[in-house]
Amino acid sequence: MELTKVNERIFLSSPHMSDEGYEMQYIKEAFDTNWISPLGENVNGFEKELAEKVGSKAAAALSSGTAAIHLALRAAGVGEGDIVFCPTLTFSATANPIIYQSATPVFIDSNYETWNMCPKALEEAFEKYPEVKAVIVVHLYGLSADMDKIMEVCRKHNVAVIEDAAESLGGYYKGQHTGTFGDYGIFSFNGNKIITTSGGGMLVSNNEEKVAKVRFWATQSRDQARHYQHSELGFNYRMSNVVAGIGRGQLKVLEQRVEKKKYIFEFYKRELGVHDGVEFMPVNDWDEPNYWLSSMTLSGQVRPIDVMEALEKENIESRPIWKPMHLQPFFEKYDFVGTDVSEKLFGNGMCLPSDTKMTNEDLERVVKIIKRLWLK
Ligand SMILES: Cc1ncc(COP(=O)(O)O)c(C=O)c1O
Repeated sequence: MELTKVNERIFLSSPHMSDEGYEMQYIKEAFDTNWISPLGENVNGFEKELAEKVGSKAAAALSSGTAAIHLALRAAGVGEGDIVFCPTLTFSATANPIIYQSATPVFIDSNYETWNMCPKALEEAFEKYPEVKAVIVVHLYGLSADMDKIMEVCRKHNVAVIEDAAESLGGYYKGQHTGTFGDYGIFSFNGNKIITTSGGGMLVSNNEEKVAKVRFWATQSRDQARHYQHSELGFNYRMSNVVAGIGRGQLKVLEQRVEKKKYIFEFYKRELGVHDGVEFMPVNDWDEPNYWLSSMTLSGQVRPIDVMEALEKENIESRPIWKPMHLQPFFEKYDFVGTDVSEKLFGNGMCLPSDTKMTNEDLERVVKIIKRLWLK
């Protein structure tokens, strides 16, 4: 057995290629055939395989999750001056594309039951802004939002729904894959995600025409003509055939990665959950998360900053919960609907190292350092 190297860095969540070398097989094929541009077998194959995996009719492979959100907003017809509801507790990449479209975000609070968009706050927002054009829902840290309630409110108001499932690939709500409830879903294959292509994203939808349109926009909106003709604004957002090869290989080990993430979460919960003031992220009966990042809140004598500092001293990465968008200098001028739930989660919460390459010894090393804090 390999001995634990005491000072070896433990990461929050870093790339983990398959032991079988699936990724290299696909990449090699792309090289051998010189298909290394944003065209080819791997791009088509990755789209098809991911769509099948999540249960969506069609998918478009793009250069990032952010690009996918951007084009989902365009597909939903969001343009200048339109209002878009967006969870406040998320990464800025959820909100930035709203600004790219010259639209206006209205930030919605979380609830403690899901840490995700609060359906009640969402209803309040609809009362205040009945003209809203689209709603973005996020499945934070792989936990699913309460989709039945959210979809009911959104359908009542006949508004487009975009699911930012960047963090929740491999996670299910009531047996259905997150990212497939709304009109559009997006996934990210950024380096820290549950599977990665080094960088990349995917848009999924049951509307095949819209997905075809997204592919068209993503390749500079080239009209079908012998010469270069453009009737619409274009983007260079397509995924390359090499990158898609990594994705195809990684998709084969997605279930393995979810299993390991769950193991990590359960290990922490068992070891740390008994301590005063510790509460782990909520896993609801209807939720089968991918446990992307094991997260907890601390309200007793030990604070998140104590844990993060103690871990960093020992060369172990951890991080706070996302800082809400309505508290960000760039976004604070936009409206916010809710109370102080997301602010409290930010103030009291943190993400523990959840790297799928971690050994039992690594996990023990992490909990030992944290447990010492309660002895002080
Ligand atoms: C919630 C959320 N949305 C969007 C993104 C953006 O994805 P990408 O980095 O692929 O652009 C990320 C991650 O990076 C994310 O965590």
